[in-house]
Amino acid sequence: MSEIVLSGIRATGKLHFGNLMGAVQHFVRFQGRGDTCLFFVADLHTLTTLQDPDDMRRNLREIVKDYLAAGLDPQQSILYAQSSVPEIPELSLLLSMLQPLGDLLRIPTFKEKVRGQDESATLGLVTYPVLMAADILGPKATLVPVGEDQVPNVELARRLAHIFNARFGETFVIPSMMDEMVKVPGLDGAKMGKSDGNAIDINAPISEISTLYKKRGVTDPKKVRAGDPGNPYRTVDIAKGVDEGCRSVYAVHELITPGEKEGREIADECRAGTIGCADCKERLVGSIAAILGPFQEKRAALANQDDYVIDVLHEGGKRARVLIAPTVEAVREKMGVIIY
Ligand code: ADP
Ligand code: TRP
Repeated sequence: MSEIVLSGIRATGKLHFGNLMGAVQHFVRFQGRGDTCLFFVADLHTLTTLQDPDDMRRNLREIVKDYLAAGLDPQQSILYAQSSVPEIPELSLLLSMLQPLGDLLRIPTFKEKVRGQDESATLGLVTYPVLMAADILGPKATLVPVGEDQVPNVELARRLAHIFNARFGETFVIPSMMDEMVKVPGLDGAKMGKSDGNAIDINAPISEISTLYKKRGVTDPKKVRAGDPGNPYRTVDIAKGVDEGCRSVYAVHELITPGEKEGREIADECRAGTIGCADCKERLVGSIAAILGPFQEKRAALANQDDYVIDVLHEGGKRARVLIAPTVEAVREKMGVIIY
């Protein structure tokens, strides 16, 4: 059966290497398979952490350029801005009538974002996953490629689809996730994130990325000299106060350095003390450069193509609406809402 593949990214800032490896790279992989692919910029979700309106407009276009440079093709994928499909927030409102509040308050991404805000957290932040469910269920997506951190949100969309179907009859498809999801560590070893100051901007010059890894990449603290044996794998046990092994470099090798996942050569060299952390970092930057070099070349050619980007978004928005509007109409009718 052919899939309907859908995913989105918020317009909160520049894309980083975690976004590319955890999400966009998979979008490109699915695009060539003859499936229906929808990839969008979640501008309404961006408003939950409202920034400057000019920043939001600019970020949105820049992310579309990143999508295009990474290999997304508007002939093969529907590329759009979430807000170009007004049926999505409508569906979100309809679905919110079935969504238990308790689940929303317990969702880890919400808890992280409202930490310390108490009752000043906005309603938009609470209902964030319901809007995301509308993104997914509107076009009846069967597969949602995302990074590991988004799993609770997609699970909520799956539950909401079940709740709706049980109450109003089979309407929504239950979406799946990829078998293997990743969490790319940032320079400090925590999840690489746009707002965490630990990210590698996918448009940064390779020399800058090299300096960042050299100065801020955290390896195994116990491997002091190049010849000391090290532990390439990080182990964390908060209860026991354990945090050992390489934090930010080796895990990325395993994800992107050709042959490493199968052969574990660098891991063996690290353990044997035949490679030092500086060399290991340099090899990592080489692997990153092999991925980002061709990307950055295409991206540079798109730098001044805002008119083209606007055309892509306009066409994509129209195509997305054609796919999504009939589902929302059916939902509305099943719930007894008639537009007179
Ligand atoms: P950020 O967390 O940096 O704000 P987003 O939340 O906009 O980024 O994430 C966009 C997509 O990129 C999502 O599918 C998310 O799971 C994925 N993603 C973000 N950070 C990482 C990471 N460090 N590793 C893997 N995937 C990631
Ligand atoms: N919440 C996602 C993120 O922060 C972005 C997003 C919004 C999304 N709607 C979606 C991802 C639908 C997948 C499917 O990255």
